[in-house]
Amino acid sequence: MKTPLTIALISLSIVAHAAELDSLLADTRQEVLPVLPKVAGMMKQTVESEGVAAAIPVCKEKAPAMMAEKAAALGWKIRRVSLKPRNAERATPDAWEQAQLEIFDRRRAGGEDPKAIEVGEIVEAADGGRVFRYMKALPVAPVCVQCHGERNALAPELRQAIEAAYPHDRATGYAPGDLRGALSVTRPL
Ligand code: HEC
Repeated sequence: MKTPLTIALISLSIVAHAAELDSLLADTRQEVLPVLPKVAGMMKQTVESEGVAAAIPVCKEKAPAMMAEKAAALGWKIRRVSLKPRNAERATPDAWEQAQLEIFDRRRAGGEDPKAIEVGEIVEAADGGRVFRYMKALPVAPVCVQCHGERNALAPELRQAIEAAYPHDRATGYAPGDLRGALSVTRPL
């Protein structure tokens, strides 16, 4: 039987855990989320001024480079993952990410605002230590559809460029409001 003291200690540890989780979440959001509007802004601007094909490097090189820079500065891992990756080498989810992406899609289908979908958890790492893992949904905006919309609707020269670079591309068929994937962060604790 649990004594009142044990119950009090368990409650205290739950409260401490929740406080740790809250502060990890707040801190992670603050560090990584500002990258997202920067990438989206750069994308919109490049599409408008130079055309869609010229904006391929924004999703291909600029976005990963901005995340890599942030990750190196913090000592975290930051990447993009998707259930239907264009670049499978970089963006194939691991088991935890895959499960979260499936939950994200269900939350979206249940009517949740795609911009607000996120998760943060403390999980056991492969080496037995603890890590904080965070994922934030990346919703499809109208500008994204030019490269991630129905394959047949893509501009011919763009489609050609994408098919040449990504023969196994799965990242088409999306409509605005769908989830393209997620930003995924792993922080050692
Ligand atoms: C100009 C074409 C273009 C536009 C517009 C575009 N993307 Fe991409 N996207 C790409 C390319 C090319 C890749 C593959 C990047 C790589 O090689 O890592 C990609 C990859 C991604 C990935 C990484 C996962 C994967 O499938 O490899 C995500 C997430 C993503 N795009 C989201 C978006 C979102 C959200 C938007 C709109 C804000 C968007 N993209 C607009 C071309 C585009």
